[in-house]
Amino acid sequence: MKENELILILDFYGQYNQLIARRVRECNVYSEVVPYDISIEKIKEKNPKGIIFTGGPASVYGEDAPMCDKEIFNLGIPILGICYGMQLMTHVLGGEVKRANKREYGETVVNIDNSSLLFEGFSDENIFLMSHTDFVNEVPNGFKNIGHTNHCPNAAMENVEKKFYGIQFHPEVNLSVNGTKLIRNFLYNICGCSGDWTMTSFVEESVKNLKEKIGDKKALCALSGGVDSSVAAVLLHKAIGKNLTCIFVDHGLLRKNEGDEVEDIFRNQFDINLIRVNAKDRFLSKLKDVTDPERKRKIIGEEFIRVFEEEAKKIGKVDYLVQGTIYPDVIESGLGKGAVIKSHHNVGGLPDYVDFKEIVEPLRSLFKDEVRLTGLELGIPENLVYRQPFPGPGLAIRIIGDITDDKLTILKDADSIFREEIANCGLNKELNQYFAVLTNLKSVGVMGDERTYDYTIALRAVTTSDFMTATWSKIPYEILEKVSARIVNEVKHVNRVVYDITSKPPATIEWE
Ligand code: XMP
Repeated sequence: MKENELILILDFYGQYNQLIARRVRECNVYSEVVPYDISIEKIKEKNPKGIIFTGGPASVYGEDAPMCDKEIFNLGIPILGICYGMQLMTHVLGGEVKRANKREYGETVVNIDNSSLLFEGFSDENIFLMSHTDFVNEVPNGFKNIGHTNHCPNAAMENVEKKFYGIQFHPEVNLSVNGTKLIRNFLYNICGCSGDWTMTSFVEESVKNLKEKIGDKKALCALSGGVDSSVAAVLLHKAIGKNLTCIFVDHGLLRKNEGDEVEDIFRNQFDINLIRVNAKDRFLSKLKDVTDPERKRKIIGEEFIRVFEEEAKKIGKVDYLVQGTIYPDVIESGLGKGAVIKSHHNVGGLPDYVDFKEIVEPLRSLFKDEVRLTGLELGIPENLVYRQPFPGPGLAIRIIGDITDDKLTILKDADSIFREEIANCGLNKELNQYFAVLTNLKSVGVMGDERTYDYTIALRAVTTSDFMTATWSKIPYEILEKVSARIVNEVKHVNRVVYDITSKPPATIEWE
C-alpha cells in the first residue's frame, strides 16, 4: 500500500489540537493527533515527515508537566513546537524558560526574520495570537532567534541544521493572519512534503484497503440517511459491492419524503443491497400517548435496536459491521488509545445485538468537512452531503406532547415549506440548523369569516459551529413573512406561526 506523507501532532492537552490537524490537512498533508507520550518505537513505525508539538496549559516547571520521550530530538525528524511545545523544546535542549509577571494575550504584532524558511513570504511585522505566561528567555545552543514582540524576547526560534522550530504564538487559529501559510512553510520548506493528501487519494486508498481487508466476506451497515453513515456505506459498496447489505430503519419520523429519497439514492443510484424497513406503525404505537421527551428518545432508541436486530438475524452471521465514526469522536474519546466504538445515536448499543466479527470504521481518520468532500467524490448528491444535522429520534422531539400520524403530517408539511423557502433565498448555506416545531398550543384564529381553533407552528433557525452553543438567526422579515403566509395557507390545522428568538443557552436548539 502507498503510504501517505504523515505529520504527527503530539498533543500536550492544547485546546487547539484538532485545529492544528485541520490546518495541516488543508495544506494537503495527512496529519494525526497522538498523545504526547507516544513511544519512540511507535513514532518510528509511523515514519512521519515532521512532528508538531501543540500548546498546552502546563508550565515546564510544573510537577506534572507533560513530557515527551527526549529521544524524539535524536530522530532526525523536523519539529515545530507551538507555545508550550516551544517551551518544552527549549527546556529539554538546554535553553531557559521563564515566567512573566503578566500574561500576554491577544492578537499581537510579532516582528520576524523573514529570511527564515518558516517565514518565507511574510513581511517584517505580522499579527499572531499570543496566549502565554511562560516564555523562552534564552534559546538553546544551536538555536537562533527569529522573532520577538514588545513583551516576549523570543517569540520564534530556529535550529536550521536540526530543523527544529519554535513559535510562542498560535498559527492554527483564524485570529493569526497568515497562520496557515506558516504551517505550509513548515510542511513544504522544512519537512519536504509534497502534499499528497486529497479526497481522491483517500477514496482510492480506502477502497483498495477495504477490498484487501474484507475480500469476499460480508458486511452490514445501518443507514440513517445522515451524512456519515451514507458516506461510509457508499465507500464500502465501492470496495465490496453486493457483499455489503444496508439496513435502513424508517421509523416514520423522518422529514417529508426523506425515506423515499434515501431509498432512491441508495437502491437506484448506487445499486446497493438495501433493506428498507417501514416501521412507522410500530414506532407510533409504542409512542402512543407518550409526552415526556426523554421517554420518547428511549422508546425510539430501543425500538430501533429491536427492528435492526430482527432484520440482521434474517441475514445471519456477518463478518463486519460498518460504523460511521469520524475523527473528532476518536480524538475526543481518548486519542485512539483503544478501539472506540461509537454508540451512534441511531444505533445505540448495536454491537451487542448483531452477530459480527469485527467493526470497520472507514471514516475514522476524517474530519466532518472531509467526510462531506469524500461524499461528493463518491458521487453522493450535494443535498445529502450538505444535509443539516437531524436528530436520531427525528420529528418525535419536534412535536411537543403526544405524537399522532395527523400531527406528523402537519409538521412535515410546515417544515418542508420552511426548508424550501430557506433554500430559495440561499440562506441554507449560512444557517446550521433550521426546522419547524409543532407546538402543543392551539389558539383562536379567523379564516374567511370562520373562527378557527388550530395549532401554532414555531420556526427555529440557528447558527453555530459546535452545536453546544448557538445563536438564533436573524432571518429577514420578508422571508419569515413568506414562510408564515405559505404555512397558514397550505397546511391544514395551522393558524399561527411564531419565530423562536432564543439562543442556546439558555434554550436548547431542539424544543424537546
Ligand atoms: P440541543 O437541542 O441539545 O441539540 O441544543 C444540539 C444538537 O443535537 C441534536 N440533538 C439530537 N441528536 N439525538 C440526536 O441524534 C437526540 O436525541 C438529539 N437531541 C438533540 C440537535 O438536533 C442539535 O443538532
